[in-house]
Amino acid sequence: MIRHSGADTAGPGMGPADPIRTGGASIMSTLAGKTALVTGSSRGIGRAIAIRLGAEGARVAVHYANNEDAAAETVARIEKEGGRAFAVQARFGDDDAVDRLFEGLAARLPADGGGLDILVNNAGISSHSSIGQITPEEWDTLLAVNVTAPFFVTQRAVTMLNDGGRIVTIGSVASRFSVSTQIGYSITKAALDALTPALANELGRRGITVNSVAPGTVLTDMTAHYTSVPEVVAQLESVVALGRLAEPEEIADVVAFLVGPQGRYISGRTLDVSGGTYLGPIIPG
Ligand SMILES: NC(=O)c1ccc[n+]([C@@H]2O[C@H](COP(=O)([O-])OP(=O)(O)OC[C@H]3O[C@@H](n4cnc5c(N)ncnc54)[C@H](OP(=O)(O)O)[C@@H]3O)[C@@H](O)[C@H]2O)c1
Repeated sequence: MIRHSGADTAGPGMGPADPIRTGGASIMSTLAGKTALVTGSSRGIGRAIAIRLGAEGARVAVHYANNEDAAAETVARIEKEGGRAFAVQARFGDDDAVDRLFEGLAARLPADGGGLDILVNNAGISSHSSIGQITPEEWDTLLAVNVTAPFFVTQRAVTMLNDGGRIVTIGSVASRFSVSTQIGYSITKAALDALTPALANELGRRGITVNSVAPGTVLTDMTAHYTSVPEVVAQLESVVALGRLAEPEEIADVVAFLVGPQGRYISGRTLDVSGGTYLGPIIPG
């Protein structure tokens, strides 16, 4: 597996060798005074996003389902770098999850109702069942966590979002590619793809942008069961132009761009952040 050496990055403090890039001069306070909710930020991609937005000056609500210690670790890492964060629990799929999340959020936001500036819909679960294997129960859970929850979280967040706000949803290239054992997961990510342009048009006149980010394979707990197998990694890397899998921070960088001032004129789009996955065959010259 080709991993980052730092040699293929822009220089000191600009690559995954210095992944979060906090404590150095390279981070600017582009999000000072902003409040962000990042769902599923106790681990993986969500954690990297939360840390990145915290380093940019945002106060971050670190949402989690079960893993309180991991959420506390994300909060601690943000605070260690001088940022502000708090954890909020809600288990998507439970009946009261959305209410619980927003009650937890309201309890920690200032009494003046300063509102929300950034929503990152990141929490999600995977599935490895083919059409013949997936059960109605698994299907229901996938839809509940990956589609219904972010949909109603977004509905509630829209009422709190300040003008000029940002919504970013973490989709997947799986919504566009055929992976037979991810059929249920792919369908949930395709549903999220449809959310983005519809909402962008509705909210655009308030200066709110709505975008999705579609990673390929990222090295997190979600993928650990197959990224720990060298043959599988080699196969996955063979269809990526950059020839390697992603670190969570590489997704977080793009989210930070979209929610920051430089992303202000991008809306209704899905950004592929997959290192160039399935671009076509590599034919030796
Ligand atoms: N990893 C990849 O290769 C990849 C590729 C494309 C897209 N994505 C997408 O990126 C997002 C994050 O993936 P990841 O790889 O970072 O996953 P991960 O490492 O498994 O982390 C999942 C996060 O979501 C939370 N979560 C899980 N089930 C939940 C539930 N029922 N209710 C609320 N929160 C829940 C977890 O909270 P707890 O810690 O409390 O369990 C955790 O914070 C997902 O939407 C995934 O589909 C991932």
